[in-house]
Amino acid sequence: VNVANTSMWHYRSYFIKGVGYTLLISLIAVLIGVVLGTLLALSRLSHFLPLKWIATAYVEFIRGTPLMIQVMFLYFGLNVPALTAGVAGVAMNSGAYVAEYIRGGIDSVPKGQVEAARSLGLSYKDTMRYVILPQALKIIWPSLGNEFISLIKESSIVSVIGVTDLIYQLRLVQAATYKGIAPYAVAMVIYFILVFGLTRLLNFAERKMQHA
Ligand code: ARG
Repeated sequence: VNVANTSMWHYRSYFIKGVGYTLLISLIAVLIGVVLGTLLALSRLSHFLPLKWIATAYVEFIRGTPLMIQVMFLYFGLNVPALTAGVAGVAMNSGAYVAEYIRGGIDSVPKGQVEAARSLGLSYKDTMRYVILPQALKIIWPSLGNEFISLIKESSIVSVIGVTDLIYQLRLVQAATYKGIAPYAVAMVIYFILVFGLTRLLNFAERKMQHA
């Protein structure tokens, strides 16, 4: 006889664990991604050509290959432990995308700002740090919020290397309940609530900042 408890509520701890991992991976990855992306964006603006080329090649290569292969390469190819490979893979991927948001933000600060700062005697570094980046950040930060929200969905790929995110957990619930559809529906609703909720929150914060 089938004695498995097939109520989704009964397996709530599975879904909660999955959400925890999904949010944790996305958050750590976006934080590393922002640091990495800033370094890459500044490198791409550098006049030191080797640095500029390496940064450009990195961004193009990462954006030109699927996140799934990147994560699998770290795990199966380089034998990095699963959770580390998952976080590192998503973070390294995110850095390339963030680099482009940051480069766009820096480009959108009018050129006269640099000229004014330089003519006041600020060094290139200080101009970047005190004049350009603060203005660029106002333009960039909503994209960084969106990047975090994207990662909640994109990080689902780490389930292929056995990281216990929401997708992995829903498969466990499928196996335990013999139910094919219900766990998908539950996970989909959870993803939607997370993404929709955070998107609304971000839009709200953005509107507040504009009026401030
Ligand atoms: N799903 C696509 C891929 O596999 C896009 C990844 C998007 N990454 C990001 N950090 N926004 O490459």
